[in-house]
Amino acid sequence: MRIGIMGAMVEEIEPFLKKEIDDEKLLEDFKIKEEIEYAKNRYYIGEYKNLEIVLCYSKIGKVFASLSASTLIEHFKCEKILFSGVAGAINPELKIGDLIVAKKLCQHDLDITAFGHPPGYVPEGAVFVEADNDLIKIAKEVAKEKSIKLKEGIIATGDQFVADQRRKDQIAKIFGADALEMEGAAVGVVCDACNIPFFILRAISDSADMDAAFDFDEFLKDSSKRSSSFILNMLEKISENEKI
Ligand code: ADE
Repeated sequence: MRIGIMGAMVEEIEPFLKKEIDDEKLLEDFKIKEEIEYAKNRYYIGEYKNLEIVLCYSKIGKVFASLSASTLIEHFKCEKILFSGVAGAINPELKIGDLIVAKKLCQHDLDITAFGHPPGYVPEGAVFVEADNDLIKIAKEVAKEKSIKLKEGIIATGDQFVADQRRKDQIAKIFGADALEMEGAAVGVVCDACNIPFFILRAISDSADMDAAFDFDEFLKDSSKRSSSFILNMLEKISENEKI
């Protein structure tokens, strides 16, 4: 099976590339064999146990994320996509370093409400896109086995770094979101349209409030590591399931 692993920023996939993972044993079998430039991005072709891996970072935002997700599917023929990265917390339960997996995602900045449509909706689309239940189930198994706290919730995506309590409260109220970031729903919409199972994991880097920019810079690296480690544990399980 060929699996696409995506982040948005290079820091989000660096733990895979530099082998900077807390549990280094996990990375022993993760091998990058080739680097390919495509559509102004770099794709790292590798393997992990019996899985073929295509790893990339899209660059920040919905447009770049859509391009990379489409490339992973159409050009590199990935059969599943797993996203790893960081997010701003909305739900006060979520603290820096905590992991959240998206049950469903929305685009908080998609707005044609002037025409009477609900926020986040355009004709022939849907407000929410749902992540793959089987991949979420695998994530829950990993969390249980490793005693890692994992929240399942709603992630709101938009082309905006939110560092403002009022904007954060609005997104919480309108979409019931637990966390926010800038790529997940874009990946979800592309995968949903192409019938490719997808999974969005985020480790909290900040609380999308007035301290967000400072916290983001401070915790980006560590939170990216936490998310990457979890993804590797999932790959191990997916690889085991493949053998059955
Ligand atoms: N990713 C991590 N923190 C974020 C924030 N505050 N806003 C948007 N995307 C983020």
